[in-house]
Amino acid sequence: MKRRPLIAGNWKMNGSSAFAVSLAKELAAEPAGAAEVLICPPFPYLPAVVAAVQGSHVRVGGQNAWHEPPGAFTGEVSMDMLVDVGCKAVILGHSERRHILNENDALINSKVRAARAAGLQAILCVGELLEERDAGTTNAVLDTQMTGGLAGVDAALLDGIVIAYEPVWAIGTGRTASPAQAQEAHAHLRNWLRTRYNPAAADGMRILYGGSVKADNALELLQQPDVDGALVGGASLKAASFLPIIRAGNQAAK
Ligand code: PGA
Repeated sequence: MKRRPLIAGNWKMNGSSAFAVSLAKELAAEPAGAAEVLICPPFPYLPAVVAAVQGSHVRVGGQNAWHEPPGAFTGEVSMDMLVDVGCKAVILGHSERRHILNENDALINSKVRAARAAGLQAILCVGELLEERDAGTTNAVLDTQMTGGLAGVDAALLDGIVIAYEPVWAIGTGRTASPAQAQEAHAHLRNWLRTRYNPAAADGMRILYGGSVKADNALELLQQPDVDGALVGGASLKAASFLPIIRAGNQAAK
């Protein structure tokens, strides 16, 4: 089963309007390749970035959203608002939201379902802490996050969902999971999907790796059989470091 690689840039809380537009234009100027490209800027820059990549292969997504329909939720942004400004996807359950903003699996699950109901692609992030890895509980942690995050999501909705495996100890630390560690976790996640859903759904679903992906480690990670793309933080903030990762995605297209 062929899975099209997805290279997604998570800009986190970085940039300015001038920075956002200029980076988006540089990425949009690169010819389209085999990999799909997504960038996720902070909320205020979404419309300008959507305009900057108009007509190119680059898609735009949000880094989070609230699951309720528009209403009295001060400070929040709805899924429909992301759609309204031209977003095609949304990152959900990122470890910074789980651990800094205390988002739990039940909330993340509501967001995944709301994203799919709004027609957005949902990128569901899962990953263990260093102490969980050291305690040998990585697989159990991943299973809990998958069971919680995908509760009530039936197989028909899976084509709009992407999983991102992001070991928390590898995010922003410069300490990447080895290709073998990534492959082991991805194979575990795919097997979970096979058991929970069915083999075809599991084989068709993309599982991205995230955590200190850089130009010089991207290709080896992306060449692992169950690694179908990358969710990139720091290295997505410069065309000079993000474009080589996109090219590695093009090269690794299986
Ligand atoms: P990083 O972030 O590439 O800077 O480690 C990845 C992420 O948090 O998605």
